[in-house]
Formats: sequence, structure tokens, C-alpha cells
Amino acid sequence: MRKRMKKTLPVIAVVLIIAASLAGCTADNTAPQTQTNTETETTSEQLSLTLDELKAYNGKDGMPAYVAYEGTIYDVSDIPQWTTGIHGGNMAGSDITEKLGSAAHGTSKLDGLTVVGKVVD
Ligand code: HEM
Repeated sequence: MRKRMKKTLPVIAVVLIIAASLAGCTADNTAPQTQTNTETETTSEQLSLTLDELKAYNGKDGMPAYVAYEGTIYDVSDIPQWTTGIHGGNMAGSDITEKLGSAAHGTSKLDGLTVVGKVVD
């Protein structure tokens, strides 16, 4: 009987360790889900650009590609469809407020874009 206990105790200990580490993994897995962020991001330094100044951000010659929608300026540089600086007949560096409404995807593509600033007069 004693011999048996000697054998089963380490087994129980191993099972407990595995169970504890699995519980830890489960907790880790749930954490990022609560942080899921589908909203737009903002950078710490926000630009204030006139529509004329915005034109420089056309995605060409190393310039980032920015577009304005309802007074907010978004960075589209990392969107593959914008890499040439032109998408759906629209130029980066322009105000797409009126055009975006008529695009098949509507304003949904603004989700997840980084806000880099606002349009000023
Ligand atoms: C914030 C600005 C925009 C972003 C980030 C964006 C992004 C995208 C993406 C990712 C697609 C791929 C297909 C999809 O997932 O639906 C797409 C497709 C398309 N977009 Fe846009 N879009 C923007 C603005 C516009 C505007 C202003 C127009 C036109 C008025 C336009 C017209 C189209 C059209 C016609 C397609 C389908 C054909 C294609 O892929 O070129 N988009 N857009």
C-alpha cells in the first residue's frame, strides 16, 4: 500500500502542474480578446493641414498617402489598394468625403485607419 502511494503521488503532482499551466494559458488567451480594437487609431502628434497642404501627401516620392473624410485626415499608406497613390479614381492627398459615400464599400474602410490630423481652413 505504501509503495503504491509512493508511485501515485508524483503522478498526481504532475497532473496538478499540467492543469495549473493549462489554466494559465486559458487566462492568457482571453486577455487579448477583451482588447480587440476595430476603431480607428490616432497618433500622438496630430497634423493640422489645409486642403492645399494635404495635396503633398500623395503617396509619391516617399511621401505618405493621406486622405481627408469629413475634416479628419487618415493615413492610407499601408492599404495595398492605395500604394500607387490612386484608388477608385481618387488621388491620395485629396478630400474623399463626397466620393466615399458612392464607393461600393462605403465608409467601412475607414475602420482601423490611423487618424493623423484634421483639415483646417
Ligand atoms: C479611406 C479610403 C479608402 C480605403 C481605405 C479603401 C479601401 C479599399 C479596399 C481595401 C478595397 C478592396 C476590396 C474590399 O475590401 O472591399 C477597395 C475596393 C474598392 N474601392 Fe476603395 N477604399 C477607399 C476609398 C474609396 C473611394 C473614395 C472610392 C471611389 C469613390 C473607392 C472605390 C473602390 C472600388 C471601386 C473598389 C473595388 C475595386 C478595387 O478593388 O479597386 N474606394 N477599397
